[in-house]
Amino acid sequence: MSSLAINGAAEVLRPREDGLPYMRSAEFTVAPGSVLIDGDRIAGFEGSADGDLTIDAAGCAVVPGFVDCHTHLPFAGWREREYAMKIAGESYEAIARAGGGIRSSARALAEASDSDVLEQSFRLAWEMLRHGTTTFECKSGYGLSVDGELRALRLAHALTAPQTTTVTALLAHAVPDGFDRASWMEQVAAMVPTVRGLASALDIYVESIAFSNDDLAAMGSLAHEYGLDLRAHVEQFNANGSVPVAVAAGARSVDHLACVDAAGIDALAGSETAAVVLPGAEFLGDERVAPARELLDAGAICALGTDLNPGTSPVASLPVIIGLAVRRYRWSVVEALLACTLNAAWVLRLSDELGSLEAGKRADVLVLDGPVERIAYRFGHNPVAAVIVGGAVVYVRADFEERVSR
Ligand code: NIG
Ligand code: FE
Repeated sequence: MSSLAINGAAEVLRPREDGLPYMRSAEFTVAPGSVLIDGDRIAGFEGSADGDLTIDAAGCAVVPGFVDCHTHLPFAGWREREYAMKIAGESYEAIARAGGGIRSSARALAEASDSDVLEQSFRLAWEMLRHGTTTFECKSGYGLSVDGELRALRLAHALTAPQTTTVTALLAHAVPDGFDRASWMEQVAAMVPTVRGLASALDIYVESIAFSNDDLAAMGSLAHEYGLDLRAHVEQFNANGSVPVAVAAGARSVDHLACVDAAGIDALAGSETAAVVLPGAEFLGDERVAPARELLDAGAICALGTDLNPGTSPVASLPVIIGLAVRRYRWSVVEALLACTLNAAWVLRLSDELGSLEAGKRADVLVLDGPVERIAYRFGHNPVAAVIVGGAVVYVRADFEERVSR
């Protein structure tokens, strides 16, 4: 078994207690130390050791690999023209009603070959990797037909990235042409038995231009019946009172929450339904800012994602998302790190395996080029100097290569 020693780091971010599936507040120690890796597992933290491979981490922070628990990979193409329209004052809803938005990405996906879609997703996966993402969620949602959704799910499985990936079936994203909500939800119900083998979670977008709270409850019943998790895009542009509905349906997470009200915050406070906030979409769409400080203070399990998609958030970098979260939510950097490591792993049901630096866990580890507090402060800079996935060094930044020795 090969070994790797990351020696003499200025900071190692470790949970105060091992074995926690999630945290409601950021209980970490940030102290000098080393991280020793055997095979694909974290072996320990004691002293410096000689591994088959060693990394000199002097002046660096060592943190868990980032977990991006909300992306829309795979998709085809981009929508920069819509961004220009938004800047000129058009709303997301108006662009969607005029045939843009999700529908335009659905057309692009339908027109693209499998290999073109996989090529774009592969490039994005590597961009994410260079920014520290070692695990991410894929979603369907741009299929907008039974065959299209099943194709998107199969493409998500066909993506060969270095990262660990999960697949979510966003079967209710926009109402496809020729259907109304009710008739499309009938199609969804008929599709779920097939989808069960292709996804670990169902997802739904609740909004005036998309689906309703009743559809959300129905999706929850389907998830329950077929042993899948329920995720939901809620309260993004309007307060629709969806959070209590999702929590009652046993949702794994509710995502966006820019417009969540006090009742929604209350419902999440002691719940195991995670609050996934997406500051990239909020910032680029000039959306409301989620009350994420209040959610964290109330005791919600808070997680962060890029929401990487061609419409609301064409952002692949979790360091940028951390920077936005710290500035706009008034979270500490360590709170933001919790949200895109252990708590994001909880959302994906992977937190017993990864998401924190603990002996025995999978060795997904990042070496950053400075202290953790600098991640947010040097907004836009990529602090990731080396990425270790399952004990293997998969990326080293050019200016850092001399720190790695055999
Ligand atoms: O998470 N708002 C719903 N779904 C996506 C955006 C999809 C798109 O515009 O292509 C989101 O923001
Ligand atoms: Fe999304």
